[in-house]
Amino acid sequence: MRILVTGGAGFIGSEYVRMLLSGTGPELAPSAVTVLDKLTYSGNRANLDPVADDPRLRFVQGDICDAEVVDEVVAGHDVIVHFAAESHVDRSIHGAAPFVTTNVLGTQTLLDAALRHGTGRFVHVSTDEVYGSIDEGSWTEEWPLSPNSPYSASKAGSDLLALAYHRTHGMDVVITRCSNNYGPYQFPEKVIPLFVTNLLDGGTVPLYGDGGNVRDWLHVHDHCVGIALVQDKGRPGEVYHIGGGTELTNRELTQQLLDACGAGWDRVVPVADRKGHDRRYSLDISKISQELGYAPSIDLDRGLAETVRWYRENRAWWQPLKAGASVNPTA
Ligand SMILES: NC(=O)c1ccc[n+]([C@@H]2O[C@H](COP(=O)([O-])OP(=O)(O)OC[C@H]3O[C@@H](n4cnc5c(N)ncnc54)[C@H](O)[C@@H]3O)[C@@H](O)[C@H]2O)c1
Repeated sequence: MRILVTGGAGFIGSEYVRMLLSGTGPELAPSAVTVLDKLTYSGNRANLDPVADDPRLRFVQGDICDAEVVDEVVAGHDVIVHFAAESHVDRSIHGAAPFVTTNVLGTQTLLDAALRHGTGRFVHVSTDEVYGSIDEGSWTEEWPLSPNSPYSASKAGSDLLALAYHRTHGMDVVITRCSNNYGPYQFPEKVIPLFVTNLLDGGTVPLYGDGGNVRDWLHVHDHCVGIALVQDKGRPGEVYHIGGGTELTNRELTQQLLDACGAGWDRVVPVADRKGHDRRYSLDISKISQELGYAPSIDLDRGLAETVRWYRENRAWWQPLKAGASVNPTA
């Protein structure tokens, strides 16, 4: 099976590629894995170093909005797993244009190419943020979309396009929507690597608002296992939730990270809340559990301890990224 992974040099996409090629997830028997990635600020070739010598891996630097490049790369693949996106909510508040361009137009460009080439399956990787915010209970896959940030609105647009290509053209599209991920190789603007690397550097960490926002934290490997199950056995035209980590308020998460880094609350600086900040996300994962046998395997205590250790031991990976001007210090 020849698999094209867009955004495969990013945080989650690179975990998927490493998993596919090292055989540490569901067996999908890839004969070739092509990564198409623009290498924006959050894309990093070094994320693929552990599998760089695998002869099945081919890397193409290119933009998913570039129809010519996309057409050339899509040809000959059996499956597309589409991760490439602008992914940081705070950046979308400061400027929505790249989000609409990459997440909506880029996805449409890929869908068109997949349609032309008769690609066997299109796996569209999306997020729980498309549903907005929920005070109690959990969303099922039928829940109406009600995104609140430019990021989530652009992801919702791409989800709807993907479903439209299934309904209109009969394309084999499956969509995954996942909760918040953490783990190694995450760009240090997202809350967990930002906090951990700030604390390891002896600095402070910015906590939004009252710290009461709730997120479900899932290890990136569990996310990728879920995507692989959906790629393998998901039903065409269906949406599958991937989650089932641990729900924590941002204050509880901060406490865990302070403990893991041996720091106290004197290192926490309260900052004004994010505009339009969703209060709580929560996914019902019954569908993927019952249909595809998915269950997360890494509990948060173990996952966070391993993640903090990884950032402690891989300063050479994150230090140059933090030194770059592109990190938003209050993300
Ligand atoms: N991080 C999370 O917690 C989370 C949760 C649920 C879903 N998701 C979704 O998973 C996907 C991957 O997220 P991530 O956290 O790995 O993001 P990331 O920002 O770490 O990686 C995105 C990758 O896409 C590439 N890219 C961006 N624009 C591109 C373009 N125009 N053409 C080609 N490549 C481009 C970047 O270079 C980078 O390698 C996204 O679609 C995101 O919406 C993320």
